[in-house]
Amino acid sequence: KIQVNINSALKEISLEQVRQIEKSEAAAALQTLKDGTGEGNDFLGWLDLPQRTPQHHLDEIQAAADQLRGCCQYVVSVGIGGSYLGAKAVIEALNNSFDAYNAPAPGCPKVLFAGQNIGEDYLNELQEFLRDKSFGIIVISKSGTTTEPAIAFRLLKEQLEAQVGKNEACKRIVAITDAKRGALRQLATEEGYKTFVIDDNVGGRFSVLTPVGLLPIAVAGYDIKELVRGAFEMQEKCAEPSDDNICELYAATRNALYRAGKKTEILVNYNPKLHYFGEWWKQLYGESEGKDHKGIFPAAVDFSTDLHSMGQWIQDGERTIFETVISVEKAASTTVIPADDANLDGLNYIAGKRVDQVNKMAELGTRIAHVDGGVPNIRVSVPELSERYLGQLIYFFELSCGISGYLLGVNPFNQPGVEDYKRNMFALLEKPGYEEATKAIKAKL
Ligand code: PA5
Repeated sequence: KIQVNINSALKEISLEQVRQIEKSEAAAALQTLKDGTGEGNDFLGWLDLPQRTPQHHLDEIQAAADQLRGCCQYVVSVGIGGSYLGAKAVIEALNNSFDAYNAPAPGCPKVLFAGQNIGEDYLNELQEFLRDKSFGIIVISKSGTTTEPAIAFRLLKEQLEAQVGKNEACKRIVAITDAKRGALRQLATEEGYKTFVIDDNVGGRFSVLTPVGLLPIAVAGYDIKELVRGAFEMQEKCAEPSDDNICELYAATRNALYRAGKKTEILVNYNPKLHYFGEWWKQLYGESEGKDHKGIFPAAVDFSTDLHSMGQWIQDGERTIFETVISVEKAASTTVIPADDANLDGLNYIAGKRVDQVNKMAELGTRIAHVDGGVPNIRVSVPELSERYLGQLIYFFELSCGISGYLLGVNPFNQPGVEDYKRNMFALLEKPGYEEATKAIKAKL
């Protein structure tokens, strides 16, 4: 099971402090979430999502995935933010690290991503790559109006129609969007695409366990029922305030650290497959907490890689940080370091050990060094990287995030600050309806 160990965080803060926050404020925050009486309570659909997702809904998502798997070598998942990172995180965590370099086998398409940037070269290279390939598109936008995925979808839709004809293209496009509103809903209705709905009460960054994340994950060949089952296990485990509620414990500990001046939390992994899990986590916590000039800044690093670049700063830089380490207990495969007669590299002292044993010592050695250097360390251990445990981990971080947001005194479920750059971009691009904003911004240049 997933465990949270805060022993190495108890230098600047005490266990009593954590228990105090946990028993009073965190328990109250969890109750507020459950009662639906806090700010942002119209966005709590994620809270019991694993429990209320019916099997027939998962079957429908699987059937749509199988349809795409049957006719495509590549499926491009188009989306940004919460409509991108959850699927990317799970697929990267489960995929073979060199999957991208293998040709797709029949019935096993590769999932590619677009619409998560406005990179002209990225889009051009993607289009070139797909020129002679059979592909399909999953277009995801809750609002249905986000510029980045809209540009990517316009380009890819045109290309797909040119390559296979409009009728066949319609069969290879699945849209995931709001039930009624937005340009994507209208387009999907007019073109007759297969669609899935993102419920109004589930925000983008909490949507990985809806079709937003589940369809691309199923297309990649992973077991979405296991993923949801894992999430449900964590939902049941952490549903009530209690002394062994790990969501309350994590939320209370990071909050106590924040109050003690630790303003940046670094999510650490020792497994490169978790790089994008860190990106998903950054959106979840950054958009949920960074408000009213408050909030822990969420950063992420991949160790031991980044120990050779960021290690110096973490060990010895400004003492405003703490680490949360995701530690995967069991590697999926076995590689033993061989003995070498010449031993010119001096590695014979670890010959016969598994690579993962060395990795675990890197983790332990780093923890001790960083704690000695004044960096508190929370450890979240996960038995293995599988659909079930990723489901547990996702729900663990989501629920902890809701609790943390309320502990901080912000609405964890809105993101008003995300709109500012969009307004300026539209004004600069002279979008109809932004005439006044265009004048105002041009005056600033
Ligand atoms: O958390 C959020 O809601 C946002 O960051 C969205 O995920 C992101 O902007 C994508 O939005 P949409 O799915 O509406 O295209």
